[in-house]
Amino acid sequence: MCGIFGYIGKDDPLKTCILGLEQLEYRGYDSTGIAGLVDGQIAVCKEVGKLSKLKEKLTLERLEIAIGHTRWATHGKVTPVNAHPHQDFQDSIALVHNGIIENYDALKDEMQKQGVRFQTETDTEVLTNLISKFYEGDLVAAVQKALSHVKGHFAFALLHKAHPGEIVVAARECPLSIGVDDERTESIISSDPNAFLGKKLNILFLRGDEIAKVERGKVSVFDKNLNPIAKKTERLDAGSGAPSKEGFEHFMLKEIHEQPSTIQKAYLGRFEDGLVQFESLSHDFRSASQVCFIGCGTSAHAGAIGALFLEDLAGIPSHYEIASEARYRLLPQNTLVVAISQSGETADTISAVREMKSRGFKVLGICNVKNSTLTRETDGCIFLKAGTEVSVCSTKAFTSQITVLYLFALYFSGKGNIDELKKIPAQIEKVLEQEPRIQHIAKKYSRYDNFFFMGRRYMFPTCMEAALKLKEISYVNANGYAAGELKHGPIALIDSNFPVIAFCANHQTEEKIVSNLQEVKARGAPILALAPEHLKGISKIADDVIWLPETTDPLSPFASTVAGQLFAYFVAKERGCDIDQPRNLAKSVTVE
Ligand code: M6R
Repeated sequence: MCGIFGYIGKDDPLKTCILGLEQLEYRGYDSTGIAGLVDGQIAVCKEVGKLSKLKEKLTLERLEIAIGHTRWATHGKVTPVNAHPHQDFQDSIALVHNGIIENYDALKDEMQKQGVRFQTETDTEVLTNLISKFYEGDLVAAVQKALSHVKGHFAFALLHKAHPGEIVVAARECPLSIGVDDERTESIISSDPNAFLGKKLNILFLRGDEIAKVERGKVSVFDKNLNPIAKKTERLDAGSGAPSKEGFEHFMLKEIHEQPSTIQKAYLGRFEDGLVQFESLSHDFRSASQVCFIGCGTSAHAGAIGALFLEDLAGIPSHYEIASEARYRLLPQNTLVVAISQSGETADTISAVREMKSRGFKVLGICNVKNSTLTRETDGCIFLKAGTEVSVCSTKAFTSQITVLYLFALYFSGKGNIDELKKIPAQIEKVLEQEPRIQHIAKKYSRYDNFFFMGRRYMFPTCMEAALKLKEISYVNANGYAAGELKHGPIALIDSNFPVIAFCANHQTEEKIVSNLQEVKARGAPILALAPEHLKGISKIADDVIWLPETTDPLSPFASTVAGQLFAYFVAKERGCDIDQPRNLAKSVTVE
């Protein structure tokens, strides 16, 4: 997965490409590269690491057209040679690619036998050479012939030194958008329409092996048989520019602090006269007899909490599935599928949505990013309104997701109120006020390399989410367990070097978790408890306690989550990790 960008037009292609890549870096930052044409020749510059590295070492000065890439490595190590753009063996083509060519090995073998020499370990170089092999003067025709031999999912953009005024692009399953201005002075290609640099453009999206020839202010689209097709264009709201840290040291910390306000934005205006109303829903989803939530990572954890809400508040049988597994499961008829994704671009989630829709299920999206793929492919979408989340480690999106899910359960039940929910922003402020103390505690625990996080009922997915935060940004081993499950095996790992972080805010199960804590204490584990104020006795068992405001069980994930986020943040800080862009990750994972 990766981000691809391209520019032909009145502005400086090189500078525009760099600006575009800045917006796409969330899709990967293992390496970055730009290629363009200068006086009929291809010029390329690529660097391992983030875009800032490329900018420091930029060897390009002027380009007539440009394509750019930000990489999250799939095939081949993170090395300069494996960085995109890739060139064919004749140095005529430069190509940037998002996705995976599944049969690249067989294609490579065949071409090697025909004398093609390869320089990299990537599937992209194979695609580039395949197009080169079929090239006989018509670039679009060469791409079309190559596509018929390629298995997998992809979006790519390429330029050819004999075609100075065009970029050819194609897409199968991976997102690719092309924007043209009203005056027809420029064309932009991007993996994400939100990376159109705030320009007002007429935008089209490529799908299903469509190929486009992109020229200055002009786009010609063809289907896989090379028949020209007229694509509908859309006018999207121009994005509001690059977000800032607003004085915080990291985006993650800023986003943690935004939560009292982002949670409010998620419920304000959506509960009127005792009823929940989602402004963007034209379809009524309430005839479903059960609900299946799908998502990945943090969004899957939100789905797990959503399933509890639906059962407890609306009496609707519900469960969650990790999106990459969901597509293989059988679902009863009349199940509503709710796909949760901050970015709306996660490939595992999008593939599951497509599969569920092809089987006839209604799919509702819950998403933060407008105009994303998820929002276009579902039967309706509820937006989080959390604003751009920059840090790879998701924080405010999660608490907005569970706010929307809480409302969603009330929408299903047709009754209830949001009085307790309205108290949550103030309760989160109380947790944020404890930041210096949490930092102090985190410092103490930052020397350990293994952790168990445990909780019951609402605290089970909450502790899984907190463990994910810690491992993602601190690179320590942290596993979230249902507290009752520890004694069925994992407890064998416990010793005085293996802390347990206990999430105790679920009243219904508090006696049981206290017993579980005694069990791990008896085996020497250092214990940090996150506990509601009434649970005073916990301080006799735990070594450290973070005290949380009292609330109902369904709403208990909020304060506990924020405390867990701060704990992970300060452990990572103490360990000197790259908090906003942890190694090996990307904000949006666009390959399966
Ligand atoms: O954009 P999505 O919500 O679909 O992303 C899903 C996961 O990749 C994401 O939540 C990931 O687990 C986060 N980096 C966790 O902080």
